[in-house]
Amino acid sequence: MALQGKVFLITGATRGIGFTLAEEVVRLRGTVCICCRHQDHVDQAVEHLQAIGAGPAWGMACDTSHPEQVECLIRQAISHFGRLDVVVNNAAIGFNAPFAETTPDIWDQMIATNLSGYYYTAWYALEHLRHSRGTLVNIGSLSGKSASMGESAYAASKFAITGLSEALLEDLARQGIRLVHVMPGTVNTTFGGNAIQPREDQSRLQPEHVARAVLSALAEPHPALETRIEIQPLARAGR
Ligand SMILES: NC(=O)c1ccc[n+]([C@@H]2O[C@H](COP(=O)([O-])OP(=O)(O)OC[C@H]3O[C@@H](n4cnc5c(N)ncnc54)[C@H](OP(=O)(O)O)[C@@H]3O)[C@@H](O)[C@H]2O)c1
Repeated sequence: MALQGKVFLITGATRGIGFTLAEEVVRLRGTVCICCRHQDHVDQAVEHLQAIGAGPAWGMACDTSHPEQVECLIRQAISHFGRLDVVVNNAAIGFNAPFAETTPDIWDQMIATNLSGYYYTAWYALEHLRHSRGTLVNIGSLSGKSASMGESAYAASKFAITGLSEALLEDLARQGIRLVHVMPGTVNTTFGGNAIQPREDQSRLQPEHVARAVLSALAEPHPALETRIEIQPLARAGR
């Protein structure tokens, strides 16, 4: 699949799933705009993407839990590349602890990033996606379908993304915008302070699996679009 001329904005793309997706996009000659909260991490990631890719890469620091920073990110991306074809809501934080340790500060930060950040990004990108007849990708989670103990704030935020995605599907379709909601199981990243496991550990997906699922959904012709993609490691699916 050639992505030449297609401009992607991927939030939270300096490591993990977002970074791997950005790598795939530039390898396929697409253009990527990325962000995270730390300018030095953005600079390192952009340098790497420019070195490996055939397509351009650009980024800036942006905390997606702040609407004015998201507005600025989208404005700057448009001023660099003139269009947005695919916007990937990916930036999120993880926290796993009993409810008694889920303080109001943690709750607020989780909802502001994992839910409001997705809304702000979709909102400020809307006119540009309308213009390109583009695609909004929401990286959700299987925790947005079935929750476990310790995930009260995280699962609440991801269930909310499931609701947001379902409500947006037809709404955006009427405006010529596709929506893809991706719900991975556990992925081998440092999300929520996890330690990276050996790649042969099949109880976790690799970030490449999620990146490939996004790109294969984007390759579908419009009427055949996969709107909700659930992915889990074989080792878990077989239980
Ligand atoms: N890993 C899993 O097991 C798993 C499973 C299912 C779904 N997911 C979902 O997949 C997505 C990516 O997860 P991941 O595993 O790739 O996480 P990750 O490795 O921790 O990467 C998260 C990225 O988001 C950035 N970020 C965090 N908060 C941000 C904010 N407020 N504004 C802007 N950027 C922010 C981080 O950079 P800074 O910290 O420097 O800002 C980093 O670049 C998330 O939506 C997550 O819920 C993950």
